[in-house]
Amino acid sequence: MRIPLIAGNWKMYKTIAEAVDLVESLISDLGDISGREVLVCPPFTALHAVSSLLQETPIGLGAQDVFYEAQGAYTGAISPLMLRDLGCAYVLVGHSERRQIFGEDDALVNRKLRAALAHGLRPILCVGETKPQRDAGAAEQIVTGQIRAGLAEVGAADLSEVVIAYEPVWAIGTGDTATPEDAQSMHATIRRTLAKIYSQAAADGIRIQYGGSVKPDNVDELMAQPDIDGALVGGASLKAESFLRIVKFR
Ligand code: PGA
Repeated sequence: MRIPLIAGNWKMYKTIAEAVDLVESLISDLGDISGREVLVCPPFTALHAVSSLLQETPIGLGAQDVFYEAQGAYTGAISPLMLRDLGCAYVLVGHSERRQIFGEDDALVNRKLRAALAHGLRPILCVGETKPQRDAGAAEQIVTGQIRAGLAEVGAADLSEVVIAYEPVWAIGTGDTATPEDAQSMHATIRRTLAKIYSQAAADGIRIQYGGSVKPDNVDELMAQPDIDGALVGGASLKAESFLRIVKFR
């Protein structure tokens, strides 16, 4: 019932020409994909070029961040309206790099998420604990807090448009992935939290991706877990070969 979503987060990598190269390789290999949804999230500067190539293909387009106003005097910001105009269907909000490097807090993440929804973009809400938080036994508390705050004032009707990405910060870009059991356990906790806030039916319908050093050699066991409904892939999404293998998880 939940169609797995495999998304590539290219972060601050790829010139336009490099982005076009990568997406052309993905398109020529993928043909018809069934039983999964595929998404790429290039940097803002490559969205237009990639968007043109993705027309009439099964690969979707997402952005890595968004501001919460539709327009105005906000130097350097990109609005949800502009992302829709580019053909984006999804947008990441609250990625740990945005939280840690750019100082985004839960309140800002929530505003961005609600703005995305208001403009017909599907937000991928990223949550995850740091290593010290996990070592202190606070991982579940941190993650459920991020879920509650990130979804504040989001109604049940809108929840079906939201995707959650659980990305333990210590696993991002480190090659140090969560074990499938630890990931499953947190995903189940997230789903229980959603059931408490909304309903069991709403919680059962929402997709929860795992992110943090997802690679060709660990994707199958992660995707075999009952509450893991996709992957948010950084490093391994930058090369066609590794991303394609992840997309073709078995
Ligand atoms: P990684 O990044 O796959 O390189 O660990 C994941 C992410 O930050 O979304």
